Amino acid sequence: MRPVWRQAIAGLRRGSLVGMAATARYDEVADFYVTEMGAGIDDPVTAALLDLAGEVTGRRLLDLACGQGRVARELASRGASVTGVDLSAALIDQARAAEEAHRLGIEYLAGDAGDNDMFDTGSFDGVVCHFGVSDIDDLAATLRTVRRVLRPGGYFVLSLLHPCFPGWTENVSASWPRGSGYFAEGWWRSQAARSLLRRQVGSNHRMISTYLNALVSHDLPIESVVEPPPPSAWLAENPEMDPVPTFLVLRCVAAPIGSA
Ligand SMILES: C[S@@+](CC[C@H](N)C(=O)[O-])C[C@H]1O[C@@H](n2cnc3c(N)ncnc32)[C@H](O)[C@@H]1O
Repeated sequence: MRPVWRQAIAGLRRGSLVGMAATARYDEVADFYVTEMGAGIDDPVTAALLDLAGEVTGRRLLDLACGQGRVARELASRGASVTGVDLSAALIDQARAAEEAHRLGIEYLAGDAGDNDMFDTGSFDGVVCHFGVSDIDDLAATLRTVRRVLRPGGYFVLSLLHPCFPGWTENVSASWPRGSGYFAEGWWRSQAARSLLRRQVGSNHRMISTYLNALVSHDLPIESVVEPPPPSAWLAENPEMDPVPTFLVLRCVAAPIGSA
């Protein structure tokens, strides 16, 4: 057996993908992501994320899967000392260019959220991860990193497409691929006309119980949950559709390691 597979299988037995290099899918679509998906922060999900992060002045914060740095910049302009990490070197280049153009003192690093050696233990007051976890292939390794780098009592705030999102008309995909159903977890690529990003980079579907149990078992119990409703434009375009679970935003607290 080739060593990388031997390592990966050992990792899977431990509940993670240790030994498998993460794939930087956003390198290919960095320009699309920045120009088409935008750098805005005035949508209800980002507002909920920032709200759950609370008062950040003077806090040491890590923006995990920071992309081109839109949340990192907002946190820094609110007075936090921010480090941003992303697997995509192309997006980190864009984040650094924005920092060059308008200095907020943010440090950006290209790296894997599951790399347990990137930061010292307890070096952050808070970790935020905006729409990152469904792009991250190794959830367990990432949560180990998050818990280790947080000081006790620190927080982890994350947002994601709601794992129970059933899609919106035939043009916007559900959290899971059509025909396989909610209970089939795994990475997949959307075919839906308006799922522009997910057609290109795919997504990991996990059940809501998988996320909640993984957080709790990594000593990150949940403190607060917000479910922002679908964008009002969707509802206006399709008034006949019932609003459905669309986004999930969670705040977890760093409990003593090994307490779960
Ligand atoms: C939907 S984007 C969100 C980016 C940014 N947080 C934002 O709100 O614009 C998901 C990001 O996760 C990053 N990502 C995926 N796997 C990762 C990993 N293992 N470690 C760090 N970042 C990762 C991607 O490169 C991408 O930038």
